[in-house]
Amino acid sequence: MTKYEKVCKTLEDTKKLAQKFAKLIENDGCFINLYGEIGAGKTAFVKEVAASIGITEKVTSPSFVILNEYHSAKIPVYHFDLYRLENEGVKTIFEELREYSEGKQITFVEWAEFSQNQVPFNHIKINVTYEDDDSRKYTFEGFGDECSKIVEELEN
Ligand SMILES: Nc1ncnc2c1ncn2[C@@H]1O[C@H](COP(=O)(O)OP(=O)(O)O)[C@@H](O)[C@H]1O
Ligand SMILES: [Mg+2]
Repeated sequence: MTKYEKVCKTLEDTKKLAQKFAKLIENDGCFINLYGEIGAGKTAFVKEVAASIGITEKVTSPSFVILNEYHSAKIPVYHFDLYRLENEGVKTIFEELREYSEGKQITFVEWAEFSQNQVPFNHIKINVTYEDDDSRKYTFEGFGDECSKIVEELEN
């Protein structure tokens, strides 16, 4: 397991971090769990990653719809928000995702606390904490060889 921590003092810093991360995952994809309180900056980060990889559709929070998907870039982006799902719902939605996700893709899961270990072992965990005003701390942890390597490369 590898770890990388970055304080983003402004939304512009978060954008730069997202662009760097996007470069590392845009070809082979990645499964990403996001943690952090409401308003921390989970969706903001997903939006910047999506823009960086060339998603042209408007990226919005999936809080009410549970899953948004975007197909305008090289690989698909799936963006979950599990906050409103019941236990059974989580199982169903991840089964469905597995069925249509044979190829490379980027999957973001907000409120991964509710995912009940339905997520793959190889994944990146991003924890977002509110520092003050426009300052946020993003902490990345990579699980599995490939994801660990991606997190290591964020240092460079
Ligand atoms: N450095 C920063 N990084 C990310 N978001 C920031 C930053 N500074 C201010 N913000 C603002 O904080 C809010 C984060 O909201 P959002 O990403 O929807 O949170 P979450 O998805 O974690 O509930 C946005 O309005 C965003 O513009
Ligand atoms: Mg959100």
